[in-house]
Amino acid sequence: MYLTKEEEGILEGEKGPVLEKLMRLLARLGDIYGAEKMIPVGSVQVSGVSYKSVGDPGLAFLEDMASKGAKVSVLTFLNPAGMDLEDWEKIGFPQDFAKKQLKIMNAFKKMGIVVTSTCTPYLAGNLPRFREHIAWSESSAVSFANSVISARTNREGGPSALAAAVLEKTPEYGLHLDENRKPDVLVDVSCKIESDADFGALGWYIGKSVKSKIPYFKGLPSWSTTDDLKALGAAMAASGAVALYYAEGLTPEAHLQDVSDIEKITVEEEDMKETYAALNSGEKPDIVILGCPHASIRDIQKVASLVNGKSLKKPLWVCTSRVMKEAADRMGYTDVIEEAGGRIVADTCMVVSPIESMGYGTTGCSSGKAAQYLPGFCKQKVVFNSIESLIKEVL
Ligand code: F3S
Repeated sequence: MYLTKEEEGILEGEKGPVLEKLMRLLARLGDIYGAEKMIPVGSVQVSGVSYKSVGDPGLAFLEDMASKGAKVSVLTFLNPAGMDLEDWEKIGFPQDFAKKQLKIMNAFKKMGIVVTSTCTPYLAGNLPRFREHIAWSESSAVSFANSVISARTNREGGPSALAAAVLEKTPEYGLHLDENRKPDVLVDVSCKIESDADFGALGWYIGKSVKSKIPYFKGLPSWSTTDDLKALGAAMAASGAVALYYAEGLTPEAHLQDVSDIEKITVEEEDMKETYAALNSGEKPDIVILGCPHASIRDIQKVASLVNGKSLKKPLWVCTSRVMKEAADRMGYTDVIEEAGGRIVADTCMVVSPIESMGYGTTGCSSGKAAQYLPGFCKQKVVFNSIESLIKEVL
């Protein structure tokens, strides 16, 4: 890979061991994937934030980087942490876990990273522009940025994202190059799509079918919102490894694609039925957790209107970013949800928080991504359904 004089110098240690180590990582990645050069990135989003996923080795690595003076030089946000960073005690997160999680957050803060902790950075102050090159980690955010915003990012790992944040660069390969962004498979949606869970189920089914290919959707409802598209992309990235999709009439670069001569899949009612059956492993939820990816203010408003004046018999969490929580507080939605017995939980989610050690065995969710990960990561049985149906389950 071609390196500028300055990049060569960093690689030779001219700017100290931390930058050398991070440049080495990016140069190695570039060599592996055949990049010709480094390109500047406009923003970064780093994963590997929850203590549950990084453990003590991750904490030690981050503290080491922070103590050696690693500093980010571009707008950098974080993926969800393992707990609500303010209300963790009230919600019942374990003390030991909280201590370590707070240390992780301090290390990130020391490096100049905005300690936002969300998988929807685009709703919380990190919004890339059309065709901007970025280096993001969280798979659902990568899908949203590439597909709904038409920015350009590969799915970074935690360390490569951190390196990109410090050096403000990433090797130019994969989805940074237009030639790698062509659709491979046409998805004809002939089934009914009516609820939030239908987008998750469709995404889960397609992710399983196409793996890492680039799907082009035809026939999605014209009323699909950005929340629906975030649910669709999240599920495809979880059951498969889809990092980019197009949706006719809905995503910005769909009309530029040639789909006349590519593989075709048709999704029928029967496929959706089978998907719902595959995602439902439980019968009655012990808890319902919504907000995967993190809830938008529109999602929170919907939950508030469904529980307004009611009394919930089981716990209900709505996971979101701190920014959305503030808006919900101000609008009175938090009070409505809390008066019904639910909670808005910020900074974390059902998958990266330790719910299995908080006494829950069956979780209700409306997200295809959460339904994919809850059984393995959190030892949960899953009740997968629309928000409306799940709320009825806990009334
Ligand atoms: Fe976000 Fe957690 Fe879902 S990180 S996409 S809410 S599994």
